[in-house]
Amino acid sequence: MSPVPFVAPVVESTAAFKDDIFKGKVLFCTGGGSGICRGMTEAVMRHGANAVIIGRKLDRLTQSAKELSEKTGRTCIPAQADVRKPEELKEAVKKTIEKFGKIDFVICGAAGNFLAPISGLSENGFRTVMEIDTIGTYNTIKATIPHVRKTKGAYIHVSATLHYKGSQYQAHVSAAKAGIDALSTVLAVEEGPFGVRSNVIAPGAIAGTEGIARLSNKESRRPFVSPLGRVGEIKDVESATVFLFSDVASFITGQILVVDGGAENTRQSQ
Ligand code: HXC
Repeated sequence: MSPVPFVAPVVESTAAFKDDIFKGKVLFCTGGGSGICRGMTEAVMRHGANAVIIGRKLDRLTQSAKELSEKTGRTCIPAQADVRKPEELKEAVKKTIEKFGKIDFVICGAAGNFLAPISGLSENGFRTVMEIDTIGTYNTIKATIPHVRKTKGAYIHVSATLHYKGSQYQAHVSAAKAGIDALSTVLAVEEGPFGVRSNVIAPGAIAGTEGIARLSNKESRRPFVSPLGRVGEIKDVESATVFLFSDVASFITGQILVVDGGAENTRQSQ
């Protein structure tokens, strides 16, 4: 008789961490207006931090900032910037310092994606994703690092698992995310002596996100499954975020935390 299939529970990060562990902290999050990064921002705010969310679309950012503030009782403000433009990011940092006086945590999460075979991917298509993901991460690090050194803060970079093996139609994103992983590791080794930590969260397929919507419309993609019986939820990434920014992770840097229910590292029959 086959056992009843196990499905891993989805748990609020508040269930495992005290409510006020980030009281007085300030988060700077690119891509925080929607999806996974908005969830990560909400989780950090739920534990006491104020936040600035950065993105290209001011309407969406403003609405998200309002909702995040209402939901958490903390303060979230929007800052419009395209991570491809260093000057705009510097302005966002300036706005953050004027409002909150410092930056403790940075989430480099702004990303772009679409499916295209490498043979049909235009130079501009490849460059665009590299510029948003990898160069955008570099630009965000450059704009924030003087402030993060002052607070002995921490970075989380949002990567993926698709570049661990060949993933069809994802040459641009695979190259970009591999670059992000590398940037984080170098940041960890160079900034560790200043008390700054840098880690990567690599989500697998996360339900209800722009990423999964963009990757779900080609038949030849591998199905999204995991040994733990479900696809990921944004809450799973939230919990990893709270853990990595918290003091209990104070000796963890230069690491990649894969949040995918074991999907990437296992072989499963369907
Ligand atoms: C082929 C495409 C394309 C497509 C765009 N391009 N979409 N090529 N197939 N579906 C090409 C365009 O033709 C153009 O090249 C170039 O890419 C730039 O396109 P623009 O639209 O001018 O760029 P821009 O307005 O800056 O938009 C960037 C974008 C867009 C990445 C293309 O999709 C975007 O803004 N996305 C943000 C939201 C997003 O993607 N979120 C998902 C992240 S998920 P030409 O040669 O014509 O000029 C994620 C996780 C992945 O990253 C892992 C999940 C498991």
